[in-house]
Amino acid sequence: MIRAILIHPDPRLKKLCDPVTQITADLRKLAADMLETMYDAPGIGLAAPQVGVTKRLLVMDCMKLPDAPRPLVLINPAITWASADLATYEEGCLSIPDQYAEVQRPDKATVRWMDLEGALHEETFGGLWATCVQHEIDHLNGKLFIDYLGLMKRQMITRKMEKLKREMAREGR
Ligand code: NI
Repeated sequence: MIRAILIHPDPRLKKLCDPVTQITADLRKLAADMLETMYDAPGIGLAAPQVGVTKRLLVMDCMKLPDAPRPLVLINPAITWASADLATYEEGCLSIPDQYAEVQRPDKATVRWMDLEGALHEETFGGLWATCVQHEIDHLNGKLFIDYLGLMKRQMITRKMEKLKREMAREGR
């Protein structure tokens, strides 16, 4: 089931999300819905608060290859190491549609997480995967990529999103 993606500004996108304490049927459904919603958008990552659930869960797939997908579900992800080397990517966000800006982050990041079977994983991500996983973990801490930008740029994007939300409300979307 495709879920509605919250658009910034929304108080649920600014929350420190709660750790997942139990893998329930509801959580499995949420993860499956989030993957479906992400692929449909289309996007390469989606965090639970973006669909209004303030729990520490995210999904991602940076393969961008329909015939070779790598759907990942990360529960309670934590960055255990980040490189001193930085990389700059032009980032976007499904909660901030059609707005892009360059953000600098560590070039590589090691992340530990639990999967839907309760198994622990640890993997070092690089390139686009590293940028994406850091962007999504930021969401779990109530942080958006525009928070890395200067005040003027951030306010300009926020005003555009407020206008978009008014238009969407008017059109009943
Ligand atoms: Ni995002």
